[in-house]
Amino acid sequence: MTFTVGILTVSDKCSQGLREDLSGEAIREIISGSGGHVVDYAVVPDEKGMISSKLADWADRNGVDVIITTGGTGLGPRDVTPEATLAVVDRIIPGLPEAIRAFSLKKTPHAMLSRETSGSRKKTLIVNLPGSPRAVRESLPVILPALPHAVEVLKGEAGECARPEESQP
Ligand code: MTE
Repeated sequence: MTFTVGILTVSDKCSQGLREDLSGEAIREIISGSGGHVVDYAVVPDEKGMISSKLADWADRNGVDVIITTGGTGLGPRDVTPEATLAVVDRIIPGLPEAIRAFSLKKTPHAMLSRETSGSRKKTLIVNLPGSPRAVRESLPVILPALPHAVEVLKGEAGECARPEESQP
C-alpha cells in the first residue's frame, strides 16, 4: 500500500539557508525506499504560527496522508514544534512517540528530552521527529511498519487488522 507524505523541516538555521537540511533529506530517503510518495516539502523557522499553518494547509487543502516534521522538539527556548502540532490535531496518538522514545532510549539517554508528539487532523496523520539526521534515521524506521495501516484506518479503508509480519510472503 502506498501513501503520500509531506516533510516539514523546522529549523531557524535551515530556513535562513545557514544549514543544509540533511534531516529532511534523510526522511525523504527512508520514505521513498518504503512505499511512501513525498508530495510536499517545506522548511520553516521555529515559529509556532508558521508551523501550525503549514500543517493545517497540507492536511486540509492537499489531503496528504502523513506529515512528518523534524526539529524543534527539545527544550530549547525556541523549540515549539509539539505545541504547534497539538494546536492543529483533532486527536492525539500517543503510541507513535512512545515507541520512538522507547527505542531511542537504547541509543541515547538524551532521547527522553525530545517532546515529540503525534496526532491526526481529519484524515491526515502528523508525527514529529527530533532534529538531527541521526535521530531521524533512528526514529523513523520504528514507526514505518505501522504507517500504512494507520493511513488505512484514518481513511476508513481498513479491512482486517493483519499484523505487518503476517502480511509478508
Ligand atoms: N533520538 C534519537 N533516536 N537519537 C538522537 O540522537 N537526540 C536527542 C533527542 N532524541 C536523539 C533523539 C536530543 S540530543 C535532543 S535535544 C532531542 O531529541 C530534541 O531534538 P530537537 O530539538 O532537535 O527536536
